[in-house]
Amino acid sequence: MNGSPDMQPLDHLMGAAPVIPVLTIDDVAKAVPLASTLVAAGLTVLEITLRTPTALESIRRIAMEVPEAHVGAGTVLCADDLSRVADAGARFAISPGATPALYQRANALDLPFLPGVATASEVLAGREAGWNRFKLFPAAASGGIALLKSFHGPLPDVSFCPTGGIGADDFRDYLALPNVRCVGGSWMVPAEALQAADWSRIGQLARDCL
Ligand code: 3PG
Repeated sequence: MNGSPDMQPLDHLMGAAPVIPVLTIDDVAKAVPLASTLVAAGLTVLEITLRTPTALESIRRIAMEVPEAHVGAGTVLCADDLSRVADAGARFAISPGATPALYQRANALDLPFLPGVATASEVLAGREAGWNRFKLFPAAASGGIALLKSFHGPLPDVSFCPTGGIGADDFRDYLALPNVRCVGGSWMVPAEALQAADWSRIGQLARDCL
């Protein structure tokens, strides 16, 4: 295991775009046009969830063919997932939760890793591992804006990327909080638009995020 994890690459990612699209891609042929559409709209940080058999290949193709994208993996559930996504070219990884094994492997791989938390104790466990940047998940269901405001008093040096249940009507309210750097969500890529390869609609929804 390396020394303390460096939070600077995570800061860079969380500052690169205010919204991180959470993408579940089941047709690998759509990975590059989807990523290109989002990047052209200004959403340059992309989370590809490991929820489909094509996820790793989608990451690989985007990493090679859309160099302006900061492509990373989501739904990372175990340490070996971290190794697999790093091999595929992911530049970061996001998990709905966090375990000592995930912290250790992310540190050993030197892979920017955004752990998921929903309670103060989980934040404290992450701080013990050297982290002070987290995904708040599931953001809306675990308390949303009220929870983030409550965290800010005792944990002023900690910042979050809330994800889960956020949409076009409330993401700006999250972004206005001092401890929120960016938000994640899937609202700009509706399933039927992705299915129909409707890049113009997805592009418009993505531009509306800025
Ligand atoms: C997810 O679990 O898919 C992400 O947190 C995105 O959530 P959302 O679909 O509610 O935006």
